Amino acid sequence: MDLSVNLAPRHKVELLLRNPVMTASGTFSNGIEIGKHFDLGALGAIISKGTTIQPRKGNPTPRTVETAAGMINAIGFQNIGVGALISTLCPVWERWDVPAIVNIMGYTLEEYGTLAARLDGVPGVAGLEVNISCPNVEAGGLEFGQDPHHAAAVVREVAGATSLPFLVKLTPSVADVRPIAEAVARAGAHAISVTNTIPAMAIDAKRRRPVIANGFGGLSGPAVKPIAMRNVFLSSSVVDIPVVASGGIMTGLDAVEFIMAGATAVQVGTATFLDPAAPWNILREIEEWCAAEGVDRIEEIRGVARRTD
Ligand SMILES: Cc1cc2nc3c(=O)[nH]c(=O)nc-3n(C[C@H](O)[C@H](O)[C@H](O)COP(=O)(O)O)c2cc1C
Repeated sequence: MDLSVNLAPRHKVELLLRNPVMTASGTFSNGIEIGKHFDLGALGAIISKGTTIQPRKGNPTPRTVETAAGMINAIGFQNIGVGALISTLCPVWERWDVPAIVNIMGYTLEEYGTLAARLDGVPGVAGLEVNISCPNVEAGGLEFGQDPHHAAAVVREVAGATSLPFLVKLTPSVADVRPIAEAVARAGAHAISVTNTIPAMAIDAKRRRPVIANGFGGLSGPAVKPIAMRNVFLSSSVVDIPVVASGGIMTGLDAVEFIMAGATAVQVGTATFLDPAAPWNILREIEEWCAAEGVDRIEEIRGVARRTD
């Protein structure tokens, strides 16, 4: 059975995955802890925690809460900063038999370019995932990912700073994901991740206050799956670069459904909070599903749900 996928088929540096199962940024740390217990080499790729130029402590706690069919988080990009990532994590990733993709986030256009340039050519880095769900301080706080022009500007900045293949992670906080997907594809993104968490909040009736110290956070888990599904379906119908699905993938069948909607690969996030073995279980379930359905190549089912005949 051939489950291999290429996330940058048109780029001079390809991003080849042995199968479509990836870990989602921020739900897997940087793989060091989980790598002691599970075979990372069995997965398609791993994605780092969102990385900024400077180290960040993140938001005050509580910054996660379980909700019906999901969770809300407001971690606030706690991370060690790109310098420490390069000196401490990349040498470890270089020894691993799995592509490591660094998720980057800037607060200005220039910061995205700086991050991409610093990671260019660093051994152990197979590609980048560019998170554009961050408020653009230069544009009065609107997220980069909510405006096609700002989103395209980030892509051009990154493309000009690195030869690494890169995915752009879209926000679901838009009326229509298609203009954003088209804009980033046209500007040179090699793939898109669809989508990030959905802004949300929870109230603690006993304390009569928001549960999350910061007030708001991002919703993830099964609750967001149908929304992510629509966004994958719509965006993959307008771009010809790979779409990587993210949002509520808990089982192999969830992954199969996203691939039928048009996804080339899938990211497993919140599921690992329930069971750290979730990415491996999902991979096994995809294999079992393909075997039962007589599917020899995962490509055979990609986008079939979009067919109109
Ligand atoms: C605790 C937590 C931290 C996250 N941190 C990041 C991050 O640093 N960068 C990013 O692009 N997405 C981040 N995400 C979003 C996930 O990568 C994923 O896109 C989202 O949770 C939807 O997938 P899921 O429903 O499978 O969790 C985070 C999600 C969670 C739950």
